[in-house]
Amino acid sequence: MGSGLPIFLLITCLQVLVIAAVTDSGDLSALNAVKSNWMNTPPSWIGSDPCGGGWEGIGCTGSRITYIILTGMGLSGTLTGDIGDFPELQTLDLSQNKGLTGILPSTIVNLKKLENLFLVDCSFNGPIPDGIGSLTRLVSLSIASNNFNGPIPPSIGKMSNLSLLDLTDNKLSGTIPVSDGTSPGLDLLLNARHFHLGKNLLTGGIPPNLFSSNMKLLHVLFDSNQLNGSIPSTLQLVQTLEVIRLDRNSLTGPIVLNFTNLPNLSELYLSNNKFSGSIPDLSAKNLLTYVDMSNNSFDASLIPPWFSSLQSMTSLIMERTQLQGPINATLFSPAQLQSIVLSYNQLNGTLDLGTNYGSQLLLIDLQNNSIGEFAQGTGYSKELLLHGNPFCQKTQSSEYCIAPQQKNSSYATPTGNCVARSCSAQQLFSPNCNCANPITGILHFRSFSFSDFQNGSYYILLQAAMMEAFKSDKLPVDSISLSFPLMDANDYLEVRLDVFPSGDYVFNRTGFSVITSQLNNLTFFTRPDAFGPFFFTLNTDNYFTGSNKSSNTGIIIGAAVGGSVLMLLIIMAGVYAFHQRKMADRATQQMNPFASWDQNKANGAAPQIKGVLSFSFEELRKCTNNFSEVNALGAGGYGTVYKGTLPTGVVVAIKRAKQGSLQGEQMLVYEYVKNGTLTDCISEHGSYVVREVKTAMDNQRTKDSGNLNDILDPSLDLTKPVKGLERFLDLAIRCVEELSAGRPTMNEVVKELENIQQLAGFDNNVERVSTSTTYSETTEESSYHPYTKKVFFEYSGSFPHSEIELQK
Ligand SMILES: *[C@@H]1O[C@H](CO)[C@@H](O)[C@H](O)[C@H]1NC(C)=O
Ligand SMILES: *[C@@H]1O[C@H](CO)[C@@H](O)[C@H](O)[C@H]1NC(C)=O
Ligand SMILES: *[C@@H]1O[C@H](CO)[C@@H](O)[C@H](O)[C@H]1NC(C)=O
Ligand SMILES: *[C@@H]1O[C@H](CO)[C@@H](O)[C@H](O)[C@H]1NC(C)=O
Ligand SMILES: *[C@@H]1O[C@H](CO)[C@@H](O)[C@H](O)[C@H]1NC(C)=O
Ligand SMILES: *[C@@H]1O[C@H](CO)[C@@H](O)[C@H](O)[C@H]1NC(C)=O
Ligand SMILES: *[C@@H]1O[C@H](CO)[C@@H](O)[C@H](O)[C@H]1NC(C)=O
Ligand SMILES: *[C@@H]1O[C@H](CO)[C@@H](O)[C@H](O)[C@H]1NC(C)=O
Ligand SMILES: *[C@@H]1O[C@H](CO)[C@@H](O)[C@H](O)[C@H]1NC(C)=O
Ligand SMILES: *[C@@H]1O[C@H](CO)[C@@H](O)[C@H](O)[C@H]1NC(C)=O
Ligand SMILES: *[C@@H]1O[C@H](CO)[C@@H](O)[C@H](O)[C@H]1NC(C)=O
Ligand SMILES: *[C@@H]1O[C@H](CO)[C@@H](O)[C@H](O)[C@H]1NC(C)=O
Repeated sequence: MGSGLPIFLLITCLQVLVIAAVTDSGDLSALNAVKSNWMNTPPSWIGSDPCGGGWEGIGCTGSRITYIILTGMGLSGTLTGDIGDFPELQTLDLSQNKGLTGILPSTIVNLKKLENLFLVDCSFNGPIPDGIGSLTRLVSLSIASNNFNGPIPPSIGKMSNLSLLDLTDNKLSGTIPVSDGTSPGLDLLLNARHFHLGKNLLTGGIPPNLFSSNMKLLHVLFDSNQLNGSIPSTLQLVQTLEVIRLDRNSLTGPIVLNFTNLPNLSELYLSNNKFSGSIPDLSAKNLLTYVDMSNNSFDASLIPPWFSSLQSMTSLIMERTQLQGPINATLFSPAQLQSIVLSYNQLNGTLDLGTNYGSQLLLIDLQNNSIGEFAQGTGYSKELLLHGNPFCQKTQSSEYCIAPQQKNSSYATPTGNCVARSCSAQQLFSPNCNCANPITGILHFRSFSFSDFQNGSYYILLQAAMMEAFKSDKLPVDSISLSFPLMDANDYLEVRLDVFPSGDYVFNRTGFSVITSQLNNLTFFTRPDAFGPFFFTLNTDNYFTGSNKSSNTGIIIGAAVGGSVLMLLIIMAGVYAFHQRKMADRATQQMNPFASWDQNKANGAAPQIKGVLSFSFEELRKCTNNFSEVNALGAGGYGTVYKGTLPTGVVVAIKRAKQGSLQGEQMLVYEYVKNGTLTDCISEHGSYVVREVKTAMDNQRTKDSGNLNDILDPSLDLTKPVKGLERFLDLAIRCVEELSAGRPTMNEVVKELENIQQLAGFDNNVERVSTSTTYSETTEESSYHPYTKKVFFEYSGSFPHSEIELQK
């Protein structure tokens, strides 16, 4: 301990007293307010520094919260108006939290920088706020599978960059809004690729001016609503269209679209409406793969000859479409054809499959027609359903006459070259032969181009595409398994998905959320042609069971202090208290360094300054050998001090608040100093530290002598004068005033530090250099020193008016 001690001591004092945080105070209080209405927030949400303190699901740029991704965390509760208080927020994804209920507060419209809003598969209700169109930067708006009601706000039309509009599976009513000169509408969304409005209660007609040739829509999905009127011919102006779903509405009239104008149309769902007139001519549609026009009131007609000319067609579903007359064998010839369903029509004559039927053909459904004869012996061995035809009255025993049963595909991604083991309760055997806890859910494809659900080649492509995306995003995915495909009552293809973790048996919350969140992102991977857009629902409700009680992992605020003797100060304070038994209680209260950091206070009681480390409970538990008594250095009225060694080799003293005396765990980390107590230090130095510094400062002022520099620790390396040093020292001296009335409040300390920082011209934009995850990179103790490296205090909020706790 050289003559540098006094200054060091004072600097150290301040540094510890203003334990730093990174997060902007406005963002912090908004997040605390939002958090207070939720249950099951991640256990890492402790303390008051979301950006610097490793709050899972929270992402920051500098001190500002820019994303909140809490997909599938089992959150429950409501959203309050505070959700609008994140001015820099770009992505908000609370999807797959079925416990989230209540309305979407209208303050959401204040998130002016928001680009992605995902609230898929939660339980929100009430109307979508009218003013939502103020979110003009929005690219993805996906609120599928909630209970939202009321109309689609016309203001959505103001989101000029919107690509994905997914309102599927809610209770939205009213008409589809279009602009009318005064108010906006969906027709203004010229950058939109997806209009997903299915499974709602929308009424009225499809407005003709909804569509224009300037649009870039790929998917128009209006299925399962109560839309009436006819299909506007303007739909064919949108030449980019690939999937049209208008099924399950009350649409009427003849279909007058000229499909020649939709060159990329691949899937067309018009079933379960009241269309009349003739069956639309799809003859030039060479890319068409899946067509369902079942259950309409078309004029009775012969099978259109162009049926057999669709070379890409895999599935032609024409149940109850008033088809009559004979069946020409050429109908079965398209090379890709997998399923042809012509049940409940009046087809008659003799059925002859010929010998040129497609090699992929696996289902011919002709139930309930008027087919009298079947020319057998053509070698066709796949499913053929003739139940309900006159043919079956004659030959009831025929295998083709049995009433069909629902068959489910049993496809499952095969496991590698290994013998399957049985795994423990929550684990599954992965395709890569490990037992692990997967993320499990259902992919609901809203369109698809095939009907051979048993054919593994489709899922292998899908699996490969997803794996590639996970890998290129460096997400911790080992393998994925797809299984049990089936078609649901709305003609959505459901496929079970299991995503297995890499490197470990389980995902941590961040991994879990980010992966699940990408499953809400339609552009995350390039879907193989066979698969249309989808949404994801989570089956894993309790992946992270228990463990959200904050008492297990606590607030841990670490001050990395260069050359600190602060720990000794604390110990001395403890001794002081001990000797003043009468005042012991009060003293303990006053000196407790944790006392004022009530983490539950909305304004975030913990001081927030950049450049200070924080550690996880786990890290500190490890480095003290589970807070072993052997490592205890001493105990005071407010807790125990342990000695510990960080993985970097730095020896620290860890002060752990008395358990049970405060909520959660609070800890302070100081650099460990070997040479006995502070008293030892001071006597070794042979003088009264504070007085010595004061004298030096006075001398500096009055006599202009170099006295002050003489007592500075040389490791501070203040070869050049530093602006504000004196004010800093002044503040330090005030910190150690005898009487508490003479000491500044935390608020004052931090404000003054901020002023000093400005005075000294420190770069305020320096990124925080150290967090619990990166501290190992900064091993040199001097790295943390405010005057030697660019790690600075940054005042970012107000603090409770508690007094400085430390005494001399
Ligand atoms: C829309 O996106 C473009 C390109 O990303 C961007 O330049 C523009 O500012 C965005 N518009 C709005 C209103 O955010
Ligand atoms: C469509 O339904 C609305 C009520 O939802 C009704 O007022 C309107 O007349 C209907 N239009 C047609 C063409 O049937
Ligand atoms: C049709 O799809 C092809 C291939 O994706 C694309 O290049 C082309 O631009 C699309 N045509 C239209 C009209 O969108
Ligand atoms: C459909 O459009 C094509 C090209 O625009 C045109 O050649 C054809 O005559 C139209 N068909 C009908 C029935 O209008
Ligand atoms: C047609 O309607 C009947 C009920 O009337 C229904 O059972 C059947 O599934 C529908 N077919 C299709 C392909 O939607
Ligand atoms: C098949 O049905 C058509 C139209 O209903 C009818 O004209 C024709 O006579 C029928 N043919 C046979 C063989 O029953
Ligand atoms: C079946 O259709 C083909 C081509 O459309 C035609 O050449 C053939 O004569 C038809 N066969 C019968 C039995 O009508
Ligand atoms: C055929 O369909 C008609 C009308 O839907 C129905 O009344 C009849 O029972 C059906 N026949 C058989 C055998 O299913
Ligand atoms: C097919 O799967 C559905 C949904 O999982 C189930 O309800 C049904 O019983 C299954 N049918 C058969 C034949 O296994
Ligand atoms: C599965 O589908 C692929 C692609 O359509 C096809 O090439 C293959 O022959 C099919 N396999 C079987 C067993 O049908
Ligand atoms: C979560 O897991 C990812 C990848 O496995 C890892 O990079 C990250 O550090 C983990 N986060 C925590 C808080 O353990
Ligand atoms: C969706 O995925 C794409 C491709 O990986 C990526 O560029 C985009 O940022 C993702 N969107 C969100 C909201 O994560």
